[in-house]
Amino acid sequence: MRIDIFGPVHKALRTGLFNVCVELGRCDFENPQELRIALDAQRRTLGYLREHHGLEESFVEPLVRAAAPDVAALNDAQHRAAAVAIDELEWLAAAIESAPADERGDAGRRLVERHDAFLVDYLAHLRHEETAVNEALWARFSDDELAAMRGRLQASIDPARFLEWLEILLPAMNLDERCAMLGGMKRAAPAAAFAAATRVAAAILGSAGWEAVRARAGFDPSRL
Ligand SMILES: [Fe+2]
Repeated sequence: MRIDIFGPVHKALRTGLFNVCVELGRCDFENPQELRIALDAQRRTLGYLREHHGLEESFVEPLVRAAAPDVAALNDAQHRAAAVAIDELEWLAAAIESAPADERGDAGRRLVERHDAFLVDYLAHLRHEETAVNEALWARFSDDELAAMRGRLQASIDPARFLEWLEILLPAMNLDERCAMLGGMKRAAPAAAFAAATRVAAAILGSAGWEAVRARAGFDPSRL
């Protein structure tokens, strides 16, 4: 198995996007509380997407361009299309918020349609990265080189924000991926950063979920 720099984070993004699908789908757009819940979920997820694209463009894309320019060009086009769609989704959300309550229904239906259409396109983009882009990277770079790039990417994220990423990453990952991520942090990150990550993991996974990670990864409870 080669290192997969996309799979785990894409699971978190899919979780967020499907959650937005659910919240928009059941929202009564004339109800201020429901509108707030749905649009907060949308903004939060689209914020992660924008940030994810920025990180990919800074750290991953240079390697993809070196490995396979044609694959990189298609990926870049997909990112640009996604950026346009995200702008439109945010514009639609802002328009709903500024409209009188009894005029939000049509705009709400439009937002649901556009989010669903975006989700379909974005799932294809994620799959492209997980297949063609990964294959190009694997053919050109070693796992050590890819892990080093991922380390630089993660180190560029503000520590407090990185903990927020863990809040969406860990629940979306399977047990092996949770152990790999936290095990990697234990080996490479400062002790205080690893301790903060374990507190997030324990809170977000619950006692049973965290105990499963701790046992599988072999973390010594007396040293956590
Ligand atoms: Fe991407």
